[in-house]
Amino acid sequence: MERIDKILAKSGYGTRREVKRLLKEGRVELAGEIITDGGLKVSLQSINQISVDGNQAEIHNSLTFMLNKPPGFITALTDTRHDTIAEFIPQKWQNKGLVPVGRLDKDTEGLLLLTNDGQLSHRICSPKWGIEKEYHLITQGRPFDQQDVEKFAQGFKILDGTEFKPAKLELVDGFEAYLTVCEGQYHQVKRMAKSTGREVKYLKRIRIADLELDPDLAPGEIRILTEAERTKLYSACRLAD
Ligand code: URA
Repeated sequence: MERIDKILAKSGYGTRREVKRLLKEGRVELAGEIITDGGLKVSLQSINQISVDGNQAEIHNSLTFMLNKPPGFITALTDTRHDTIAEFIPQKWQNKGLVPVGRLDKDTEGLLLLTNDGQLSHRICSPKWGIEKEYHLITQGRPFDQQDVEKFAQGFKILDGTEFKPAKLELVDGFEAYLTVCEGQYHQVKRMAKSTGREVKYLKRIRIADLELDPDLAPGEIRILTEAERTKLYSACRLAD
């Protein structure tokens, strides 16, 4: 049994105060009955009978957001010297325990997930679960060729002993490519490129598992994942949502 205001707040319907207002305005129903008391306790079995504005409520124990990270911000929530991605998290989501899933470098842009589901985050990042991350990159130096595609496909070890697992390199031309990796080692894409004689000038993450960066999300914009996106992500990570 859990309070209805807490259930709704946890599921992303707003802060406790916003949820209180929803209830007061008569917009929340349980089994067809308008509920105005946020303290009402709802059993697990009745949770799927909650509706908001006439639609069945989407109830979750965790929140996950997609941010289109612009370059120039570090993937941290606080820092004394650099601008951080925290400034893209609206105030009302700031005390929800959201943390970034993995890390994009300061100059890297694109798809960054934030979640308060530790298990989800762990599975996306851990090489054990093999979750794909796809990057669009533009390089300078030696042009890419078919030999690189083969080398990346096999996986390789660099001089400092780091081993990179097989990755899919798709060339647009000698300097532009898409790279899909299934792990998240420190500066992975840049180090893979560097060890084969080139420098990454531009790097953008465009996909995690089947979840693509929303093309309508401008740099710096953040939004909650849709139900369909959550389903894709949780099933790729073999987790129940
Ligand atoms: N690989 C990198 O080198 N940098 C990133 O930000 C992400 C992957």
